[in-house]
Formats: sequence, structure tokens, C-alpha cells
Amino acid sequence: MCGIVGYIGHREAWPVITKGLHRLEYRGYDSAGIALLNGDLKTYKKAGKVSDLEDFALNLDKSGTIGMGHTRWATHGEPCDRNSHPHPSGNGKLSIIHNGIIENYAVLKEALQAKGHTFISDTDTEVLVHLIEEIQERDQLELAEAVRVALTKVIGAYAIVVMSKEEPEQLVAARKGSPMVIGVGEGEYFIASDASPIVEYTKNVIYLKDNQIATLRTDNLVVRSIDNIIQTPSVQELSLKLEMLEKGGFDHFMLKEIYEQARSIKDCMRGRIYPGEGKVQLGGIKDYTEKLKNAERIVIVACGTSWHAGLVGEYLIEEYARIPVEVEYASEFRYRNPIISEKDIVIAISQSGETADTMAAIELAKERGATIFGICNVVGSSIPRITHAGVYTHAGPEIGVASTKAFTAQVTVLTLIALYVAQQKGTINQAQMVSMLTELDEIPTLVEKCLAQDAFVKEIAQKLKDSSNCLFLGRGSGFPVALEGALKLKEISYIHAEGYPAAEMKHGPIALIDEDMPVIFIATKNSSYEKVISNIQEVKARKGKVIAIVTEGDKEVKKMADYVIEIPDTNEAYLPLLATIPLQFLSYHIAVLRGCNVDQPRNLAKSVTVE
Ligand code: AGP
Ligand code: GLU
Repeated sequence: MCGIVGYIGHREAWPVITKGLHRLEYRGYDSAGIALLNGDLKTYKKAGKVSDLEDFALNLDKSGTIGMGHTRWATHGEPCDRNSHPHPSGNGKLSIIHNGIIENYAVLKEALQAKGHTFISDTDTEVLVHLIEEIQERDQLELAEAVRVALTKVIGAYAIVVMSKEEPEQLVAARKGSPMVIGVGEGEYFIASDASPIVEYTKNVIYLKDNQIATLRTDNLVVRSIDNIIQTPSVQELSLKLEMLEKGGFDHFMLKEIYEQARSIKDCMRGRIYPGEGKVQLGGIKDYTEKLKNAERIVIVACGTSWHAGLVGEYLIEEYARIPVEVEYASEFRYRNPIISEKDIVIAISQSGETADTMAAIELAKERGATIFGICNVVGSSIPRITHAGVYTHAGPEIGVASTKAFTAQVTVLTLIALYVAQQKGTINQAQMVSMLTELDEIPTLVEKCLAQDAFVKEIAQKLKDSSNCLFLGRGSGFPVALEGALKLKEISYIHAEGYPAAEMKHGPIALIDEDMPVIFIATKNSSYEKVISNIQEVKARKGKVIAIVTEGDKEVKKMADYVIEIPDTNEAYLPLLATIPLQFLSYHIAVLRGCNVDQPRNLAKSVTVE
């Protein structure tokens, strides 16, 4: 998500922290800030780049050997100076930086406001520092203990550093669900989101564990668990080079982001599903529930991978919410003089939130009276500013040009919207909702099982890397997965690839089949499984090479395909979330084997902000 850096020791903190924040810039961010503890608490923060912050503080007093810095990837409260971190407590004695999401911040904020707390920002983070202040004042606690007690009341993910004017010789750090590394130097300690800001000072690091709280002084470090038991952290020696560290030890950002999908899907659902109650909560669109329930049509506009996510959304919304859905290429929609009225809801899907064609489609639909929702990953980007409402995907920065975790996060949000509207319309009963949300809650665990197939898929990639063409075939929601698999392959390996509905083969494409044509089937157990089996037989009869994504334990397809990749069984509605992962690995490994530039493929940009 974002970057945190802390320092306590004998060096001037400002240069250590700014250099560390620069090292973390690859993680993506929208704002930056630093707080120094030197007799007083001094805070410098603003929206924009780390270099903007440095310019802003150029002639200000930046002395001090204790401090912390933050690069923000906004989740609650759009990017602006007052929402930037660090955030002060109400009494000005404390300061906090935070990476993650406080799910129950609204409830906590209300309780604190009732006690007289007033807030400057719109963030969830500021609520936490006020909670720490409230507990410290009420129970007269030292900072570390006040932090620990406060965290017992927090639901969500966090990596935080907290400082106090009244305890000026220490930093208090804690983590749960967001990364944090502590660098152990000679009479100095470093804290960071990963080891890249630390490695030039020391190779000795402690990977703080979830639910651990560290109190750092220049001469000692104490780690406690959230239930106040002293821990003995293990110090490890870093072996990775800086370059590798920025990619979390992966060779490419794309591979790192493929592996992040268990976490990013979990973050996308965080605070939005309550399986036991059979409830979906989508704060970003709740004011439009009536409009959604009574919509006569939903039009989805997007480009590229986001358009594929829209196709999955079409299957889900029509199946569960029973509302007609049309999915349009934004670039076509904007020039087609479409029939759009105030009765329509338009959903614009965009990872970057900056795609020119999608923005133009939104403006056109708005002019004609439609209600516009956005599904974006970058908080505060252009598209969320021009839509009426929306749902952020919370996938974290996606650096690789080929979209992976953003796609599965978009599909997750569309799944939540389909179930939310179905629940509101009563097209799904309570028991079904409980069962579907229980299965959805399991998806991150099933994603981990798909990720374990990496090495096996790499072996198959070896066999396909010299192909000149490739076909991807699927039925039902397996068809958009086929399109997405084809796009991944062509955009990073430069192999010509096409996705088709499997049944379409007999209407022409089957003429392409011969022993040099690999055909990748999405052949998971779903309502059209038997039909896909027949399509596989048609391809085999023409000597085509068949690679099939199957449900684990499948014996039928194994008898006829050249290679099968098994994925866990789950509700048919959620298969796109799992079936896409082996296809991401396949395109990744083929591209690497072909010596392609995986993270920055030729001719492509991460965000197409021109027509
Ligand atoms: C997908 O891997 C590509 N990077 C591209 O198709 C992308 O999905 C498309 O340009 C749309 O981008 P957006 O989601 O940021 O609007
Ligand atoms: N949720 C916090 C915010 O929106 C922190 C986001 C981050 O990880 O940078 O400010």
C-alpha cells in the first residue's frame, strides 16, 4: 500500500528518512510527510512527491535524530495536505504514521467525537491516534501501553509508528496485516515497510510479526505481543540486493503483484462482507441503493483488462441481481451516440482512474442523465472525481503494466455489487447470501493454492514459449477469463493470442487448429463443462495441443488434454478469480523465457491517458 520509515539513533534523522522514502517510491503513493522529535514534535507533510516535501521543508529546521516518514496510498480521504501523514493527536502530544486500513474507524470516530474529540482529516488513521490519546489520558499510561490497549480495539490492517513529545527518547511501532521490518544497527534502529530503506545501514533485520508491538530506544528494543507478553524477536541477516528488495524478492513487479492477490482480494473485501449475517456493505454506493435496485439497465464502460472484468460482472449481475447489463468498450461507446437516459446506471471500471477513453465515456453518459459509479484502484484519481459514487478496489499500487491483482480486485468488487443488489432486491434469500459470502470469504485461501502452481505452470511455459499463435477458449464466465488470458500473453510475450467463446470455434476459428496451435481451455467444473469437453475433443481431433485449466481432481479432461492445471473447486460465480491466476503465471513465464521486458512491455503504458 504505502511506505513507512522510522529512525532513532545518532544520525540526523531527516536525510535517513527522506532517502528511505525515495527508496519506497516504487510502491506508489500520492502524498508524503515526516515528523521529527527534537524537544518538540515538528511535522512537514503535503500531497505530492517526496521531492515536493523536500522542497517545501528546504529552509525549515529539520534537525533531530528521531523521526518518522510516510508515503501515503490513500484509502480513506482523498489525497491532500490535511489527509497526509503524520497525523497529530488532539492534544498535539502524539503523532502517528500508518499503512493499512482501520475497518472500524467510523464507529471509533463517533465514540471519540462523543467524548469531545475533533478531527482535522477524513482519514481512518487520525482516529487511531485520537484513540491512543484518549486511552493514555484516561488510564494515565505510557505511550507503548496506550498503543497496545488501543490496538486491542482496532479491526483492520496496520503498520504504525507513533511518537510522543512527552517520551522523546523512543519510537513505538506495531503491525498487523501490513509489512514492517526493523533494522538493527549500532546504537540505532530503523523501521520500514520493507528492507530497501535499511539495507545500506545494516544487514541485521527483524521482521516484526502480526500483533507485535516494538518500543525502540537508541540502546534497546522491547517487543511485546498484543496481549502484553514479552517476545524474543529473531534477528536475520539480509541477503537480497537493493534491486531485488524493491520487488519484495521477486524478479519482476508483475510476479510480485500476482503473488499479492490473496492479500489484495482480502483487502478488497475488508469491512465489506459479513458472512455470518449474510450481509454485504458498500459504503461508497449505499446512498444509491434505491436507484440500483430499480435500475432497468446497467452499462459497464472500460478498456482492456478492465473491460474483461466488466464482462465477468455482466454474468454475475444478471445471474444474481437480475438486471440487464451491457458491457461497452469505452472507446466505442464515446463515439457511438449511445442511447442513455436517467434510468440507466453506468459503471466505469479503471485501475488507474485516468484512462482517457473511459473518462470521455463517463462525461457522455453524465450529459445524458445517467448515474455513474466508478470502480477504481487509485484513490483520488480523475475518474472517482467525476463519478457520482463508487467502490475502490484497495488492491494497492499496481506497478507492472500488465494488470493482474487489479483485475481480480475489480472482479471482487463486481461480485460484491452483484450480491449487494441481489440482497436488496431479494433475488437471493438470506440462506443463499450466508452460503455465498462464506464461500467468498474462503477465496483468498484458495488463491494461495492457485499460487502454489507457479513452478508447474512454468514447466508448461517452456513447451509453449516458441509458439507464434495461441487460442484461449472458455464458456460462460470462462469466456472473459479466456479473453484476459489472451491479452496477458500478447501484451507481455508478443505472441499473437485470441480469446473466444469455446462454442464459437466451429464458426471459423477451428480452421486455425493444427499441431502448431496451442489451445488453452478454461475447463473448470461449471454448468457448461460437458460442452467444453466436446470442444476439447474437436481440437484434439485436429491435432491441436490442449492445455486445460481444470477443477482439482478432474479425471475426464486429463484423459484428453496434453497438460492440465488444477485449481480448487469453488462456487461457479468465483471461478474467474481462481482460473485467471494460472493464466497470469503462464504469460509471465513465457515472456521471461522469451527475454521480454515483463514490467514495461514495448509500446505500452500503464495508464493510457490519451485517445
Ligand atoms: C491490461 O493488462 C493493460 N495494462 C490494459 O489493457 C489496461 O487494462 C487498460 O489500459 C485499462 O486501464 P485502466 O484499468 O487503468 O483504465
Ligand atoms: N488508510 C490510511 C489513509 O488512507 C493509510 C493508507 C496507506 O496505507 O497509505 O490515509
